[in-house]
Amino acid sequence: MLLYLLVLVASASVHAATECIPRQFEYDTIVCVCNATYCDEIGETPWPSTGEYTIITTSKDGLRFNVEYKTPDTVPDPEAVVVRVKHDFTYQTMKGFGGAFTDSTGINIVTLSNATQENLLRAYFSPEGIEYNLCRIPIAGSDFSVRPYSYDDVPEDSELINWALADEDLQYKIPMILRAQELSQNHIMLFGTPWAPPAWMKTSGLVNGTGQGELRKDMYQPYANYIVKFVEAYEAAGVPIWGLTPQNEPLGGFDENWAFNTCGFTAEDMRDWIKFNLGPTLEAAGMRRLALMVCDWNRDLLPWYIIPMMEDPDCEKYIDGTAVHWYEDFTTGPSVLDETQALFPNKFLLYSEGCEGWRPPTGPYLGDWTRAENYARDILENCNHFATGWVDWNMALDPIGGPNWVDNFVDSPIVVNATADEFYKQPTYYVMGHFSKFIQEGAIRVFSSVAGTETPLKSTAFHDPYGPTVIILHNRGDVPLNISVTDESVNYLNFQIPAKAIQTILSP
Ligand SMILES: *[C@@H]1O[C@H](CO)[C@@H](O)[C@H](O)[C@H]1NC(C)=O
Ligand SMILES: *[C@@H]1O[C@H](CO)[C@@H](O)[C@H](O)[C@H]1NC(C)=O
Ligand SMILES: *[C@@H]1O[C@H](CO)[C@@H](O)[C@H](O)[C@H]1NC(C)=O
Ligand SMILES: *[C@@H]1O[C@H](CO)[C@@H](O)[C@H](O)[C@H]1NC(C)=O
Ligand SMILES: *[C@@H]1O[C@H](CO)[C@@H](O)[C@H](O)[C@H]1NC(C)=O
Repeated sequence: MLLYLLVLVASASVHAATECIPRQFEYDTIVCVCNATYCDEIGETPWPSTGEYTIITTSKDGLRFNVEYKTPDTVPDPEAVVVRVKHDFTYQTMKGFGGAFTDSTGINIVTLSNATQENLLRAYFSPEGIEYNLCRIPIAGSDFSVRPYSYDDVPEDSELINWALADEDLQYKIPMILRAQELSQNHIMLFGTPWAPPAWMKTSGLVNGTGQGELRKDMYQPYANYIVKFVEAYEAAGVPIWGLTPQNEPLGGFDENWAFNTCGFTAEDMRDWIKFNLGPTLEAAGMRRLALMVCDWNRDLLPWYIIPMMEDPDCEKYIDGTAVHWYEDFTTGPSVLDETQALFPNKFLLYSEGCEGWRPPTGPYLGDWTRAENYARDILENCNHFATGWVDWNMALDPIGGPNWVDNFVDSPIVVNATADEFYKQPTYYVMGHFSKFIQEGAIRVFSSVAGTETPLKSTAFHDPYGPTVIILHNRGDVPLNISVTDESVNYLNFQIPAKAIQTILSP
């Protein structure tokens, strides 16, 4: 008994978890309120001690990263839903999880006091937070900026004499990234994405859509130089770049009503730009080390959009992976990911953008479980279809879901209230954390399945590079379920998942 108490005391001090301060708005579950002096933290990863396993639970009824330790059983619970894990069936190696350092993220964070800012960045990056390790950086402006701009808005400056980072980089993006790097114990892998080249490099001369906005052929080389300058400038500022996508949502430039920064590339034009300009220019600058990811749009572009690039060896040699956005995941099934992976087995798949609240009525819903469930379902499904990670969109927005220069408001896992000097951690923040904190870079997905066809339970499982098995379960049903996890060894993990809940199980 004494020994037992000592263990409890020791584990409490190591994990240092702090409780959520709940607040209910008009939706069906709580947000957790953080301010200058208080923020709930899960603490350092609650790895199980010998002979135990860990269950971390977030649920609609109010649990947020609730940590329990249990000992395995030697018999299965005969009534339970069986979750099978097969350690010998291995799939993709994971890269990680994170969000985007948009201008709006930085603009919102600096409206808070220094101490509240610190709590917000800790929530995403510190070992006590959800430990994001894979983040996106818009190259110049996106819609989540307060103005349209590029790094060279002097018309016809094809020598890029006037190229310079913007105030937004110097005031918001770079300082936030440097602070995130200081807080993190991980190497944060950062990838850049342009939304548009300078408007004068486009056939339309406009930053946003007209249906005719492509990269001018005589700008193929200047624009490749422009991208290299971004990498050089960020790295000179202490921000190492890991990867690039050559264009956000590359067919947006052919849409007449595309309100924000865009540039249209047919698959053939993208192939030629990479093959003749971007690829060789990166190579000459010593930047072939950057992971180049094509597509950077929805599932419905797969695999057809990338085929011309992948089938040309002089283009394909520069490409490392395919980046995917989540916005058509509800209309196009995940089999296109399997098909893409099978066609190009040496290229990885990575989810590079997703958010809630983009369909009317737009903007944040404070404390909405359905949106959390959509994140859980989507991330879990994509992990089971070869995605090596999932990168969320804005890390912090204001209560209307901006700022955004074309009023394209959306939701975010953290919503900042500048007036109150506080921020709200949405249920989606915890869902992100159920993956990001526990699936380390280098984790390998392994086979898992849930018995029964009508079950509201989904599973995914990984071998962590530090040893444990990480299992993530999502129960969309209205009733709790008794679970029995088996890997056909002598031990069974028998436990319960609440109704409407996500769990991460850490098992030796
Ligand atoms: C910050 O939150 C804590 C916990 O809810 C509360 O005790 C404290 O009063 C809050 N501080 C401010 C300045 O609101
Ligand atoms: C689920 O397990 C609990 C104990 O953990 C038990 O009381 C309950 O009867 C079980 N429910 C079902 C449906 O088996
Ligand atoms: C907040 O942080 C900034 C940058 O580190 C610093 O210049 C400023 O003095 C700080 N403000 C307060 C009130 O501590
Ligand atoms: C493009 O941006 C301008 C403002 O710079 C705006 O007036 C126009 O409506 C936008 N175009 C579309 C198609 O939304
Ligand atoms: C932000 O804080 C202010 C001041 O406490 C409050 O009046 C307002 O309702 C808050 N906004 C939200 C979205 O909670």
